[in-house]
Amino acid sequence: MYVALAVQSHLIYAIAHKKSALHGRRAKWPSKERPHHIGRRMGLFHSRQRSKSCWSIGMRKKELSLPHVYGLLEPGPVVLLATSMKGRNNVMTLSWHTMVEFEPPTVACVLGNGDYTFSILKKTRECVINIPTLELAPQVVACGNASGRGIDKFEQFGLTAKAATTVAAPIIDECYASLECKVVDTRLVNKYGMFMLEVLKAWVDPSNKNPKTLHHRGNGVFMVAGDTIRLPSHMK
Ligand SMILES: Cc1cc2nc3c(=O)[nH]c(=O)nc-3n(C[C@H](O)[C@H](O)[C@H](O)COP(=O)(O)O)c2cc1C
Repeated sequence: MYVALAVQSHLIYAIAHKKSALHGRRAKWPSKERPHHIGRRMGLFHSRQRSKSCWSIGMRKKELSLPHVYGLLEPGPVVLLATSMKGRNNVMTLSWHTMVEFEPPTVACVLGNGDYTFSILKKTRECVINIPTLELAPQVVACGNASGRGIDKFEQFGLTAKAATTVAAPIIDECYASLECKVVDTRLVNKYGMFMLEVLKAWVDPSNKNPKTLHHRGNGVFMVAGDTIRLPSHMK
């Protein structure tokens, strides 16, 4: 679906720009043709439904049970959150996170208070957010289905811990990117299990130009990052 939507928006954009592209320059939406005209031509919605709403694609929707909502909104990528306490490393799988600030880069992460990592993070106030790609999918699932209370997940699941520079928590060598973080705000921890993390140092594998990150849709279903498209945008 991810790829399908990306391809769809790409097509809409390509059609909208067809005329001007022929003349070698970019333009706004062609004067008489609007996104809903193009969408209609592509069969995204029916012309009669436009009087109610031009985005009447929604008429095809069915109710979704509320426990499944998270699978629609989870942005991913799924990460491996590594911690360390008293010289012992641990790692858990996490997909409930979001950026909350550009600079300094600040990330909100939601952890269940039953997770071993929750108590480590509360005590040590530091971690490394490691971003895995498709090759690590088995480890991603394994680290999310076992607690580090009784086992060493690095050893058990074949992950390599490398020393970070600003925190005691480890970088996972097999991941394509790693973010060294400290906890900067715990005000929402008791209510939502939400830790605010500031990224102190970031590492990325420059050879991986199109990382196939994993995006959890719930119940063990993952989307794999696919095609990349570039559109004109003022968003940095
Ligand atoms: C794909 C996936 C995503 C997950 N996302 C989260 C999450 O966002 N927050 C969370 O608390 N647990 C999440 N989990 C569950 C934890 O990873 C799991 O409870 C883990 O065993 C905790 O390990 P720990 O006890 O060693 O800290 C996820 C598990 C999977 C498989």
